[in-house]
Amino acid sequence: MRQTFFLTLLAGAFTVLSCESTPRKAEEKQTQTAIVPDAKWWKEAVVYQIYPRSFKDSNGDGVGDLKGIISKLDYVKSLGIDMVWLNPVYSSPNKDNGYDISDYQNIMKEFGTMEDFDIMLKGFHDRNIKVFMDMVLNHCSEEHEWFKSARSSRESPFYNYFHWWPAEKGKPPYRFSIFDEKGDAWEYNKATNSYYLHYFADAQPDLNWENPQLRQEIYKMMRYWLDKGVDGFRLDAIAFCSKDTIFPPLPKEYDGNWPLYYASGPHLHDYMQEMHREVFSKKEIATVAEAMGDVERVMKFVDPERKELNMAYYFEAIDFGYLPKEYKMPDPKGYDFVAWKKIYAKWTDAFAQKGWGTMYLANHDQPRMLTRWGNDSPEFRDVSSKMLTTFILSMRGTPCYYYGDEIGMDNIKFDKVEEYNDIELLTNYAQVKAKGGDLKRFLEGMKISSRDNGRTPMQWDTTLNAGFSTGKPWLKVNPNYVTVNVANQENDPNSILNYFRKMVQLRKKEPALIYGDWKLVDSDNPSVFAYTRELNGKKLLVLLNFKAVNATVNMAGLDLSQAKVLMSNLITPSSVSVSIALKPYEAMILAL
Ligand code: NOJ
Repeated sequence: MRQTFFLTLLAGAFTVLSCESTPRKAEEKQTQTAIVPDAKWWKEAVVYQIYPRSFKDSNGDGVGDLKGIISKLDYVKSLGIDMVWLNPVYSSPNKDNGYDISDYQNIMKEFGTMEDFDIMLKGFHDRNIKVFMDMVLNHCSEEHEWFKSARSSRESPFYNYFHWWPAEKGKPPYRFSIFDEKGDAWEYNKATNSYYLHYFADAQPDLNWENPQLRQEIYKMMRYWLDKGVDGFRLDAIAFCSKDTIFPPLPKEYDGNWPLYYASGPHLHDYMQEMHREVFSKKEIATVAEAMGDVERVMKFVDPERKELNMAYYFEAIDFGYLPKEYKMPDPKGYDFVAWKKIYAKWTDAFAQKGWGTMYLANHDQPRMLTRWGNDSPEFRDVSSKMLTTFILSMRGTPCYYYGDEIGMDNIKFDKVEEYNDIELLTNYAQVKAKGGDLKRFLEGMKISSRDNGRTPMQWDTTLNAGFSTGKPWLKVNPNYVTVNVANQENDPNSILNYFRKMVQLRKKEPALIYGDWKLVDSDNPSVFAYTRELNGKKLLVLLNFKAVNATVNMAGLDLSQAKVLMSNLITPSSVSVSIALKPYEAMILAL
């Protein structure tokens, strides 16, 4: 079956660590800690995600690299953010853009060297910015030494680092694969006369977490990065690491939902607790799980008493609005906005009880937020970008903001399949084609939802290739770079970029935006997402019009008599009286 929500689940888990041995200025940032008892620096931080392949190319090979990032350290600093999440930079043949690691303790050739990495890390730390790494631990690359050895013989010391089904037992029991054209997660390997398991592409063999030796290798490797001084990890697809090695048929309760079953391995939480003991407990740690499923499941990762991870991504909101049983096909009727708000309310309330959440509208597994959740038409791109930024930075949960969104980059909307690079899209295209499906309809849908829309090169200026590279970029640059770029927005006080910077500062200034209670206002309003944030008697009201229409909000029960506008995405905000009429995509934060 198609797993729409599954694909975004992959964006999640990361772990952030503050190193005791190097108490940097970041610790000094804990300005809010006195305000609430369970304050943590990672709850207060704003995360900026850099997709290194697309950020800045320093050597003209068309691929972003670490030296490129180094050349933009001051830009990143200028955003006011506190942490950078780096997508994988380890050695990789790039079948899935770095999510297929062939050497966990080396840097991908296209990205540079370990020396570059060290310089980059120091550069961020010198600027008081923490860095956390993307750790892909459910699987590695078929080119990893472990797998090369394992697949050569059943006698290999690494054979049991992977999951095998010996051919003498017949065909393996069906397992669904996400990036396999046939949808089959078992691949036959002649030298061992056995099948290996791969939940993702066949180039991404799953690691056998049931083997304690493998787990110790992983923990050792994670400690290597910690010793280097990185501030944490994002744990990719970690919910899948434990497997029932009997490989029974899909239990009925999962009703065709393989990913949810995969995220229910018998020892998953034992391993998370072991990882906590072996790696995280050595230093002060903050962790975010890529956790699937309902609140109850996700809570298991983040309930502080369980000592696993302590932050989580959830996917229910980001996966909303696709047609059921189809791969990321947007519902032509749009999405049920009121139901969407209630999803946020449910999760925000849950994290208020236990653990801590994250807030995001985009990442490398998503299209651009402006196209998907805002409006990328010339009339509304500016105002709706700013409205979405207001949303991300005023919600409860650590905000994770994706590179390029700060200048309002939008979907490139490729017409032809040849223009895409992403394994996920290409696999699904091949499947639709094999079934004689409607390819035109598929490609139309992908203009809204495909991952490559969110991976096009950063638009720095109006020079060749948007200033990203002097060579041919690995993925086409969005032609709108001539107007949508950093240089154009730097000196415009009203630009999307400068709005982002102001919103980051407002979040830092107003502890209520971080720790305040969150309460939905006028929940059934069909256009406006309105909520209050309240801490120690200070109450803020956030009003976000998500639609291209004028809208009013029912403020029953709120005292607006003293209301003061703290933030507005319009030069002249709508006036505040007993009721408020908002313009299309208008956003406001009021102090009541
Ligand atoms: C989740 C990552 O976010 C995604 O980009 C990747 O394709 C899968 N995991 C497989 O590692």
